[in-house]
Amino acid sequence: MPVTLRPAHPDDIDAVLELWATSAENRSRPADTRAAVAAQLDRDPAALILATDRAGGAGPGVEQVVGSIIVGWDGWRCHVYRLAVRPERRRQGVGQALIAAAEQRARAVGATRIDAMVLADNDSGQAVWRATGFDQQADWRRWVKPLRDG
Ligand SMILES: CC(C)(COP(=O)(O)OP(=O)(O)OC[C@H]1O[C@@H](n2cnc3c(N)ncnc32)[C@H](O)[C@@H]1OP(=O)(O)O)[C@@H](O)C(=O)NCCC(=O)NCCS
Repeated sequence: MPVTLRPAHPDDIDAVLELWATSAENRSRPADTRAAVAAQLDRDPAALILATDRAGGAGPGVEQVVGSIIVGWDGWRCHVYRLAVRPERRRQGVGQALIAAAEQRARAVGATRIDAMVLADNDSGQAVWRATGFDQQADWRRWVKPLRDG
């Protein structure tokens, strides 16, 4: 079953939070909240891209969110967050399609580079970036300062 890719809108927030709670990589990052997703959609409505279908758990004909990716554009580079695909829809090309959509958006806004952070022991995460033409930068370290509870 092919998926439809589309930007998220405020009506999707509950479905997005449910997708991330059940299907995303959730360690070592700030908690997802309604307010945070709403603020993200308000700030950059094209950044959160959803993969949806009309089969499976939600019932025949009902749209279900099966995957997501955030491609953030800060005017300098594009950084990707929250790539997630429902377990029952994995290894069907959904992740690859979301990454292609993120890359398309990055090119459209004029970004010269796109990057993603993946936990070192997340084998499927590492594999999907490798499979889609990303290279690991072993000579960099990430430095982080939480500003609230992140
Ligand atoms: C990582 C994730 C998004 C991949 O989504 P997906 O829809 O299954 O990916 P695709 O079907 O598009 O896979 C594309 C390619 O990536 C590689 N790949 C993806 N998952 C893999 C796995 N579990 N093991 C090995 N290779 C994998 C393969 O090369 C695959 O091509 P193939 O199926 O023809 O062999 C999904 O497993 C997921 O949501 N995981 C939990 C959340 C997460 O870890 N997100 C990434 C954080 S950055």
